[in-house]
Amino acid sequence: MADMPPDREALQALLDFHVEAGVDLALDETPHNRFAEPAPAPDRQPEPRSPSQRQAASPAAPPATPARPLPKAAAGTPDDAAHLARELAAHAKSLEELEGLLAEFEGCALKFSAKNLAFADGNPEGRVMLVGEAPGADEDRIGKPFMGRSGQLLDRMLATIGLDRTSVYVANIVPWRPPGNRTPTPQEVAICKPFIARQIELAAPDFLLCLGGPATQNLLDVKDGILRSRGRWFTYKAGDGREIRALPTLHPAYLLRQPLQKRLGWRDFQALRRALDGTE
Ligand code: URA
Repeated sequence: MADMPPDREALQALLDFHVEAGVDLALDETPHNRFAEPAPAPDRQPEPRSPSQRQAASPAAPPATPARPLPKAAAGTPDDAAHLARELAAHAKSLEELEGLLAEFEGCALKFSAKNLAFADGNPEGRVMLVGEAPGADEDRIGKPFMGRSGQLLDRMLATIGLDRTSVYVANIVPWRPPGNRTPTPQEVAICKPFIARQIELAAPDFLLCLGGPATQNLLDVKDGILRSRGRWFTYKAGDGREIRALPTLHPAYLLRQPLQKRLGWRDFQALRRALDGTE
């Protein structure tokens, strides 16, 4: 009996169980420890991706990157991957260059299950930068943060204080969708952190709005849960020593699940408006 193949009904039940548990993506038949796999040899410079990078790479322009080729994959452990991420991120002189390096980076396994890198949306020249947790299905499909229902609520909240994506810059602490929308692991966050830190440094906003607990805890080194930390001003210290006023607030996905809490989100957005106006 034990070696009889499962019947159709049993297979369907197993599939339903996985879908209900959030496993909505078939990656492979057997698990892989990608950190244990040998890293490909450091080979070539990343291809220029954006118009500005293409311009920088043209023969007339001075070289934007040093002659030493940048490796894409870390040698083995998550620490190696985080180390490489720090090296690459520090190397980026512009947001376009940072996006190009991140697109080539192979140290975070999420890259291999995601459809697209969701690096940023909005205006990097804006005074406000918003940072969320990680892309979901819509963001993964489109390749930009906050494109789905959370993004629509975020846009409505921004509109109440006279802002939109022409005046704010939006990113996530992790730029690839975790399979099934699970929370990114501490390891994945640690590997991606140098990139978001450099992104903040290069965008150099006046104000940072941390959307939800993971963004708040990881960027501001806050231990409290979001319901305690929201609405309080913190100082974010950028890598170049610049101090940025930072405000944690509730994540729009949480507000969609708990609409009564929108009044707290509303208070935080009002505080941001006052800060922009120089009255708080
Ligand atoms: N939630 C996030 O934290 N980021 C997104 O981009 C979308 C949903």
